[in-house]
Amino acid sequence: MTTKLSKACVLIILFCFIFQIHSKSNANSFKPKSLNERVDSVLNLMTLHEKVGQLNQYSSSWATGPESHQENKFQDIKDGKVGSMLNVKGVEATRAMQKIAMQSRLKIPLLFGFDVIHGYKITFPIPLAEASSWDLEEIEKSARIAAIEASASGLHWTFAPMVDIARDPRWGRVMEGAGEDTYLGSEIAKARVKGFQGKGIGNTDAVMACVKHFAAYGAAIGGRDYNSVDMSERTLWEVYLPPFKAAAMAGAATFMNSFNDVNGVPATGNTYLQRDILKGKWNFKGFIVSDWGSIGGMISHGFVGNSKEAANVAINSGNDMDMESRSYIENLAALVKEGKVAIGTVDESVKRILLKKFELGLFDDPYKFCSEKRENQELTNPQHRKSARQIAQKSIVLLKNDNDLLPLNKKQKVALIGPLAKSKNDMLGSWNVYWPDNSDVVSQYEGIEQRVGKNNLLYAKGCEVNDSSKTGFDEAIAIAKQADIVILTVGEKSGMSGEARSRSNIHLPGVQEDLIKAIYATGKPIVILINAGRPLIFNWTADHVPAILYTWWLGSEAGNAIADVLYGDYNPSGKLTITFPREEGQIPVYYNHLNTGRPYVRGSADTTYITGYNDLVRTPRFPFGFGLSYTSFNYSNLKMSSTKMKPNEMIDISFTLTNTGKVKGEEVVQFYIRDEVASLVRPVKELKDFQKIMLLSGESRDIHFKVDKEKLSFYNNKIDWVAESGTFQIMIGSSSENIELKDTLQLVD
Ligand code: NOJ
Repeated sequence: MTTKLSKACVLIILFCFIFQIHSKSNANSFKPKSLNERVDSVLNLMTLHEKVGQLNQYSSSWATGPESHQENKFQDIKDGKVGSMLNVKGVEATRAMQKIAMQSRLKIPLLFGFDVIHGYKITFPIPLAEASSWDLEEIEKSARIAAIEASASGLHWTFAPMVDIARDPRWGRVMEGAGEDTYLGSEIAKARVKGFQGKGIGNTDAVMACVKHFAAYGAAIGGRDYNSVDMSERTLWEVYLPPFKAAAMAGAATFMNSFNDVNGVPATGNTYLQRDILKGKWNFKGFIVSDWGSIGGMISHGFVGNSKEAANVAINSGNDMDMESRSYIENLAALVKEGKVAIGTVDESVKRILLKKFELGLFDDPYKFCSEKRENQELTNPQHRKSARQIAQKSIVLLKNDNDLLPLNKKQKVALIGPLAKSKNDMLGSWNVYWPDNSDVVSQYEGIEQRVGKNNLLYAKGCEVNDSSKTGFDEAIAIAKQADIVILTVGEKSGMSGEARSRSNIHLPGVQEDLIKAIYATGKPIVILINAGRPLIFNWTADHVPAILYTWWLGSEAGNAIADVLYGDYNPSGKLTITFPREEGQIPVYYNHLNTGRPYVRGSADTTYITGYNDLVRTPRFPFGFGLSYTSFNYSNLKMSSTKMKPNEMIDISFTLTNTGKVKGEEVVQFYIRDEVASLVRPVKELKDFQKIMLLSGESRDIHFKVDKEKLSFYNNKIDWVAESGTFQIMIGSSSENIELKDTLQLVD
């Protein structure tokens, strides 16, 4: 017995010893490689042609730019000549294409990118509308849901967020960004990056963000899409670059450059922007993709003579991937062989792209995002629809509400009039992924019908959005006469704003304003809904009609959200993030302008020898930050922890906000600063902070803002970020024009 026991003990000890040695040696030989080491190990296997292939991106036959080349696409993938595809979506399609990539020599997985701009299957409000919510959590959530759906549908990458500051509503792409303000735009940029990338790329519910269009695309001359940008270094740094920087710092995986030139150098071939600023100063580790064909576009710019020169300039200036111009695939290998492009430059771009493929986990499982089960679940998730309705409500801006005409009473008989009342497609706006399938969209007619019932709802189209016929007016007038209230829904068709949709005339299109006048003449109370992708001009309507809701394009839940606001189930809280001009001739008009030596003083009757137009009121129609509510708010009791601060100090500014109305509501309180005297002329005010506060009727809350040196700084003429000592105005208000509380602060050395 004792011998048996001691034998067993010896065996156990021996086993433990062997096990220990074994696990030690395992630990040495299986030390996991870092991602960079894995990237290098793939790079070492690649031929020059395979490297160039990784930098090449093709579109599927669904083109989002001028026709793309379709020949040889599949063969090229098999031959290792393609690193990424855009415009392929769905598990079935992405899996099929990835299978082809798996037949290539090195089996490097493809990246699938798509313009998931405001939702995927569930369409959220257009970004400009969402920005009007000033609700960063909701904006992040909307991007989160878009990412959940897109990633469940086989996608790895969205070409969003678009963070271009836009001061010109003639530019069709204002719909795609956050509006005119740099601070707000930066906060929204961060929220969207966080939303898309979730807990990090590599999780199956995240997609890579692509921050675009780097840079200054929003300042295209005259709002003409694709046009040139001519701006001072200071404006570039102070107004246009910060949202890009904020997005880069938030960890955005990729950037897209842009079609425009900046001061004569196309962004796509711009070393200063791409290498010096983005990859240099900001230490961006992701990769840069060109915009559609923008490498080839440098030939039309007159910056390079041919496609080979274009490829040379693009890669050397820091553009990593070529979207659809074929300049890299056709020329890069030769450029390397001729010594014009260093192999190290190509390697650097390839490594950046491979690194993202590793981070996504595609080398471990190229079909990681290809689960039909997940796709089915997520694309029909009812929670997503709920969220879409919530943010759509928050995106609506109440521009006018004389005598509290709104909210409406469900018992009133409604005449719903207008060319957009029954439209579904137009609610989706530009960049809608599921076009032309609009089966999940709630039209305004449906939303209102659900509220008041069929018998209480009359309908007439009245006219088309954009033609000259008035033959429908009589029918519209007739139903208006039978109703207690008229809801007139007008605006733009979804194809009228967006890429390549700049317009010189941004008045309400067609005869829609004539229709409004004709209905107004019946004497019936009218509520106007304006559906659009940009600020429109509607002066007569703004002067005469008692109630106006700017509803933008609100996505799948448009009709429900609009009915929620019309009938008071949601108290509107949206505020404009872009100034509405009175006439096109007033553009560009934005709140944070410089003062001039002959400034216009608001309210002053004397306008001689004063800046502005003699034939136009000198203020905009609706200012930045403006939006009404069904309740009212009082601002009082401004306190500053000190009226003097040193550069290393922080002061607290507080005030009391009270809901003085009868219903609960949200207020976006806005905090502006003006640097009174500086070494460079400073804007009349700049948004530096904001909060969105929900208060019950009668409720009060103390709101605090912090001011530190950062908030007082600007780029001086050496492009140094400095805070100069002196006096700063502190302004708190409900819009950029409606300042409720004011004081001054001294920055002392
Ligand atoms: C061109 C647009 O400018 C860009 O924003 C978009 O992502 C690409 N086309 C791809 O569709």
